[in-house]
Amino acid sequence: MSTSEKKPVDLFEKCWTFTRADEIKAAGYYPYFRPIEENEGPEVQIEGRHMVMAGSNNYLGLTSDPRVKQAAIKAVEKYGTGCSGSRYLTGTLDLHIQLEEKLAYFFHKEACLLYSTGYQTAQGIIPTLVQKGEYIISDRDNHACIVAGNLMAKGAFAEFVRFKHNDMKDLERLLSSLPIEKPKLIASDGVFSTTGTIADLPNLVALAKKFNARVMIDDAHATGVVGKGGRGTASHFGLEKEVDMTMGTFSKTFASLGGFVVGDKPVINYLKHTAPALIFSASPTPASVAAALAALDILEKEPERIKRLIANADKMRKGFNDMGFKVIDGQTGIVPVIIGDDLNTFVFWRALFDAGVFVNAFISPGVPQGMQMLRTSYMATHEDRHLNKILETFGSIGKKLGVIN
Ligand SMILES: Cc1ncc(COP(=O)(O)O)c(C=O)c1O
Repeated sequence: MSTSEKKPVDLFEKCWTFTRADEIKAAGYYPYFRPIEENEGPEVQIEGRHMVMAGSNNYLGLTSDPRVKQAAIKAVEKYGTGCSGSRYLTGTLDLHIQLEEKLAYFFHKEACLLYSTGYQTAQGIIPTLVQKGEYIISDRDNHACIVAGNLMAKGAFAEFVRFKHNDMKDLERLLSSLPIEKPKLIASDGVFSTTGTIADLPNLVALAKKFNARVMIDDAHATGVVGKGGRGTASHFGLEKEVDMTMGTFSKTFASLGGFVVGDKPVINYLKHTAPALIFSASPTPASVAAALAALDILEKEPERIKRLIANADKMRKGFNDMGFKVIDGQTGIVPVIIGDDLNTFVFWRALFDAGVFVNAFISPGVPQGMQMLRTSYMATHEDRHLNKILETFGSIGKKLGVIN
């Protein structure tokens, strides 16, 4: 058959035949895109129902803090609602510079650069720094934004290789097989977003040193949660000097929207002048930056919030464990309860929703088969009454569905 005789396939064919989401909706189990109508942190209103929120990354509970809200309102009054330009041209406010300086100081690094989201930060840094013939070496379970950066770098003829999740033996095997003289970047989440596991940074940085590699850590779930005063994974292990770049987001602890990277001045200066994700995208809005600045200020002044967050998560880990649930152990604000298959995860999720508890349902292929989970996450502002309600509700549903005895 010649090319002209072949039946043309419409690009949108895949969209018309995509029925998975509708099937789950029809069954009544669809957990995604549920509109929140009111949000007070631990308590929210969803579809007219008052619920306890146990699925947010609002770790320090600052999205509803009056000081953070006021800072955002003031910034809108002073600077307007948007910057209408990239940082490179008309989108730099004094607020952006202030936040960059404060974050660099907070993380004990020379300089900082803001991006419009955390996703854009990783996706922007990696292909800018890792060029043709150079190596990006990535943990298999890294966040999608690192994966996006890796693939962009690969598209521009960088070498992209992955090691088994948090497996330093595999990383060593991989590094020892690569040419020592070639420039390399090892990228890893500091705290892995699905499980809350902390990266084995001491071994990772030792291997980086041995095999001529730089290190970038994504601390989206670590900032304000682990490390001295919430300074993240490098600080948690006392390795702030050894980690070359820490990146993060304002969408979690910082109660806002935007991303950042801290590192040495020449590296930040290079990214500032060469990263397309920065140069060709509008800068974070005045309200976003002001909210993040206020949140950073509160984080520094009220470190007891971190203690409360960790105590809350520890209480939940113990509570789930005591009831017989399978829980991934950890030291962060993330407490995943393993259910083990897609349908049971959805059924459990729906029963929690109906009983007034909101969590996140993670199914395959987002997580490996057998690891389907209800990912719960906590805030410093959860009170015992919220946590007890979550535990009691999990307990009674878990028994009813035969997940626990
Ligand atoms: C590990 C990790 N990195 C980056 C991001 C992206 O951050 P943002 O929400 O600012 O795009 C997230 C958010 O989901 C994350 O979990």
